[in-house]
Amino acid sequence: MKNLKDKKFLISGANGQLGKEFSRFFSLEQINYYSPDESVFDITDKEKTDKIISNYKPDYLLNCAAYNLVDNAEDDTALAFKINSDAPGLLAEKCKEKGIFLVHYSSDYVFDGTKGAPYSEKDSPNPLNVYGQSKLKGEKVIQEKLDDHLIFRMSWVIGPGQQNFLYKLSQWAQKNKELNISDDEISVPTFSADIVNLTLLSLGHNLRGLYHLVSSGYASRYELAKYYIEKTGLDTVVNPVSITTFNTKAQRPKFSAMSNKKLSDELRITIASWEESLDKYCKDNINE
Ligand SMILES: NC(=O)c1ccc[n+]([C@@H]2O[C@H](COP(=O)([O-])OP(=O)(O)OC[C@H]3O[C@@H](n4cnc5c(N)ncnc54)[C@H](OP(=O)(O)O)[C@@H]3O)[C@@H](O)[C@H]2O)c1
Repeated sequence: MKNLKDKKFLISGANGQLGKEFSRFFSLEQINYYSPDESVFDITDKEKTDKIISNYKPDYLLNCAAYNLVDNAEDDTALAFKINSDAPGLLAEKCKEKGIFLVHYSSDYVFDGTKGAPYSEKDSPNPLNVYGQSKLKGEKVIQEKLDDHLIFRMSWVIGPGQQNFLYKLSQWAQKNKELNISDDEISVPTFSADIVNLTLLSLGHNLRGLYHLVSSGYASRYELAKYYIEKTGLDTVVNPVSITTFNTKAQRPKFSAMSNKKLSDELRITIASWEESLDKYCKDNINE
């Protein structure tokens, strides 16, 4: 991380899970960063974006902004595409003009979940829902416009704040003696602290292109819930049910777990399992 100390980082989506985690890390490590919130840095607003980038002159732009409401996106299609596809295109154009390296985040929902084994970067995407389509288009737009980029596909991001499955689970568990959680929706819980660490390691190694950035292993929502409930000592009973019980608006892939092999090979590290990272997350965020 030493060679990143004299660099400047601009963060979009500063109030989201990942944006907050980057800010927390950069503050602790005394790394130069600027993380204006959405009212100041709206990535769909070309004029504002141009001004912020031209004034701050970052070395790296970390695009943590996204439209993440998977079910709402089915009706709110234009906005989902504006934020997840068009805006990354604007950022890529500006980065090209100014010689800035762009880091962008995408999703396991670009896959249809029919492979039956963890997806690699070589597998063909086939999104089942509008959110996945908008994230896939965002990837393509960046790849077309800018060489100096990293795109990380991630899944089930868990970080500071209330917009994640574990926070919601703990709220439900406090109010209910029994919970029904889907056991036919499988992916990889991935923690924001690991995402920050792996992003910066990747920049330090001068990686570029597309990578799957996830914990090692995979789990169903049910397995994740059971592990978390046991870990935190809650006495709620967790029952496995099918995702179809919940009648969600957007169709979701059943098995969208991705493999982190390409990233771990190129960084020459072993990426922690989701259980190890969850244990650490509980220690740092719950028992502190
Ligand atoms: N969360 C997951 O499980 C998950 C899974 C796979 C991939 N990812 C990807 O990982 C990245 C980070 O996710 P996250 O969990 O940190 O998301 P998050 O907590 O939802 O944060 C996204 C932030 O972007 C903001 N935003 C929305 N529109 C914006 C705009 N036009 N300009 C600037 N900011 C805007 C949101 O503000 P508002 O909340 O006010 O709209 C929110 O604060 C995203 O690219 C996401 O697609 C996430």
